[in-house]
Amino acid sequence: MILLKKPEHLRSFLEKKRAEGLNIGLVPTMGALHPGHLSLLEKAKKENDIAVCSIFVNPTQFNDSDDFKKYPVTIEQDIYLLETGGCDLLFMPSVNGIYPDGTENLRHYAIGHLETILEGKYRPGHFQGVCQVVHRLLEIIFPDKLYLGQKDYQQCMVIKKLIELTGLNEKTGCIICPTLREHDGLAMSSRNLRLNEEERNKAVLISRALKFIKDNLQRGNIMQIKNDAMKMLYQNSFKIDYVEVADAGTLQEVENWDGKQKLIALAAAFINKVRLIDNMIIN
Ligand code: PAJ
Repeated sequence: MILLKKPEHLRSFLEKKRAEGLNIGLVPTMGALHPGHLSLLEKAKKENDIAVCSIFVNPTQFNDSDDFKKYPVTIEQDIYLLETGGCDLLFMPSVNGIYPDGTENLRHYAIGHLETILEGKYRPGHFQGVCQVVHRLLEIIFPDKLYLGQKDYQQCMVIKKLIELTGLNEKTGCIICPTLREHDGLAMSSRNLRLNEEERNKAVLISRALKFIKDNLQRGNIMQIKNDAMKMLYQNSFKIDYVEVADAGTLQEVENWDGKQKLIALAAAFINKVRLIDNMIIN
């Protein structure tokens, strides 16, 4: 595996490869890698000549400075996992490499309602930060395919919108990969590393609450089932940001279900100081 830190080195390396007719798959990450990340890499490897992974803990997408400071960093293990997972190229830029003109006055992206609902509502500015870093990565790497996890469903929608807004859709396709889970159903996440044993055991309740909605949802008003799912969490001292059932295409909240509309259940909740998210497609 080749490791590059400077955008200009990566760009010129990939330009040569592209000129040879090779295609490029990109897996952007913030490190603290787990099998969920590696499943994206595996797919990128299968579908492209060159699989590039980036590790960059992007300061502009953290609305909570404590979350940024405590974001897990396991770089040596990450390098080992990528190397054994067959990654061709690891890009590990500095903050200055990604934001040469600083992090103030960056572009604002018109991502519409996605910015004000669910994650957008509870993490103001978060998706602007995601757009800023992903746009920059796309402009350096120009991948043929970008690999993203369904675990961050709203982020996938935001990045698709970004690709459209920037006209990169002519060039880059998005591949959304399924959420990998622990044996008990907890969605794998870098932030799980911050949980102690008791918190880890509780964390599974987020996926259980979503599964409860999926298994019990019926046509008609869905408030009751949402409330029951929320109860599962607050009775176990979670601080809930949201438990929502939404249209899987638009993420607009749904109150009455006709039994046909494609739905997704989504949740975000804190266990003590650690915020976890998860989602489940219902039908
Ligand atoms: P990060 O949280 O490191 O996630 C990197 C990619 O891995 C994302 O596309 C995410 O959805 C995917 N992923 C995370 N957990 C997963 C799981 N359990 N199963 C499958 N895929 C999973 O998301 C980010 O980083 C950042 O916002 C980023 C896009 C890199 C921009 O900074």
